Amino acid sequence: MRTRKCKRSAVAMLLAASLAAEGVSAAESPDGKAIYISRCGMCHQTIGMAVGILSRRPDDASKGLLEDRKDLAAAFVRTVVRTGIANMPRISRGEVSDPELALIANYLSRGKP
Ligand code: HEC
Repeated sequence: MRTRKCKRSAVAMLLAASLAAEGVSAAESPDGKAIYISRCGMCHQTIGMAVGILSRRPDDASKGLLEDRKDLAAAFVRTVVRTGIANMPRISRGEVSDPELALIANYLSRGKP
């Protein structure tokens, strides 16, 4: 379990480094979404088929899905993750590395710092 986490963190770090080297901003990268789903999805993602189908009805605004919010800033997302908020426990660097969190925060904030 431990080595798996380390391996994943290393991958994210390499990814962030290569994105930076190519001058590609993390906000344009689809990988923030993949990391978000794998690290935050167990609480923030609804994966049930019915939820997906019902949320397409015009009277359902997909309430509660962070990915649908337009008011999230990256700094806020990082702070929430590192300090926790109300019912959400804080998440350590051992669980989600800084480069991974940067990608997630950029994804959720749609590039807003
Ligand atoms: C163990 C479940 C759990 C995990 C894992 C989790 N969260 Fe949360 N998160 C919550 C809960 C519950 C809330 C609502 C907190 C409340 O108001 O009580 C929340 C709220 C938030 C909010 C909204 C804060 C606000 O007030 O608008 C953000 C942003 C957020 N989480 C980001 C993340 C990110 C990014 C990750 C992954 C790195 C993550 N969370 C992982 C449970 C989780």
